[in-house]
Amino acid sequence: MDLGGHGHEPVLLDAVLALLAPQPQQLLLDCTVGRGGHAEALVAQMQPQGRLIAMDADPQNLAYAKARLERFGPDCRFFHANFGEIADVLAAASAGKVDMLLADLGVSTNQILGGHHGLSFSSDESLDMRLDPRITRTAADLVASLSEKELADLIYHYSQEHLSRRIARKIVEIRRTTPITTTGQLAELIRQVAPRHHAGQINPATRTFQALRMAVNQELESLTSLLEAIPAFMAPGGRVAIISFHSGEDRLVKQTMRSWCDQGVAQRLTKKPVVAGEAELFANPRSRSAKLRVVRFADVNASRPVDKNIPRPAGSSKNKSASFELSDADDE
Ligand SMILES: C[S@@+](CC[C@H](N)C(=O)[O-])C[C@H]1O[C@@H](n2cnc3c(N)ncnc32)[C@H](O)[C@@H]1O
Repeated sequence: MDLGGHGHEPVLLDAVLALLAPQPQQLLLDCTVGRGGHAEALVAQMQPQGRLIAMDADPQNLAYAKARLERFGPDCRFFHANFGEIADVLAAASAGKVDMLLADLGVSTNQILGGHHGLSFSSDESLDMRLDPRITRTAADLVASLSEKELADLIYHYSQEHLSRRIARKIVEIRRTTPITTTGQLAELIRQVAPRHHAGQINPATRTFQALRMAVNQELESLTSLLEAIPAFMAPGGRVAIISFHSGEDRLVKQTMRSWCDQGVAQRLTKKPVVAGEAELFANPRSRSAKLRVVRFADVNASRPVDKNIPRPAGSSKNKSASFELSDADDE
């Protein structure tokens, strides 16, 4: 499917630029570089000698961003990594302290509509949902192996879907005779147990798909490890901007930023989360659930808590070489 443009429109871009306030020679860590939209606009304002460390769990998005940002030269470096591996990335890049950190959570439009990740209930794709190919368990594996109670709990926990028990029961009923291996099959069985939905309401499969995606990619666990790691590597005066797309994520971000502020290590630059205005909502409906929160770390970082137990995904280690950096040889 041709999605036009870069396949994804960066949300709340003006607010991100205004609140991160990029300056020449600074170091930006974009933890979710995606299609490179936010990074391109930020790096353009960091010239001369601005540096970017970009990471993404999805190697395809990472390669796209690398090609898009090529004109900025070797000061932009790209790493295939999950949030839990940030310490490894910064060590591999010998980067020093970070002046700006951006995390634009969730998935990009091309990941949903591009047909490669099995995230869309509007077409019939393999029920996969992994953003990072190193993850071994797909959504089809979860749907095939969890008990009815585990499925219901998972769907409710990650998406507050109030039909979770009915949906789990239907999954177990269907899989007794037919393996559930495609997004189309899952969307159809949800449609059978959900009340008819009207124009303007969200598709009844939306929440279950979101819950499975979050479970497959361990999104809340990864976000927790990112938030725990951040204070240790921010430069004095460094700014952190996080865009979340649902209440579970936003709650974690809000509580963590509040605790940094209560401890006096950071101050809030957004009293309330920044949300999209009417023009952006009209131009980019995906922005409707985006919430941006930004803090600025204190000028002196002596009292900053340093978490020495940052959770790491299996297979990563502290002394790992930079084999996950995307080099020019990876360009094809
Ligand atoms: C909303 S998109 C970012 C879009 C980007 N800001 C832009 O302007 O193009 C989110 C990106 O984060 C990546 N991602 C999600 N969870 C991640 C994680 N735990 N670690 C690293 N990247 C992750 C996704 O693969 C996706 O490319």
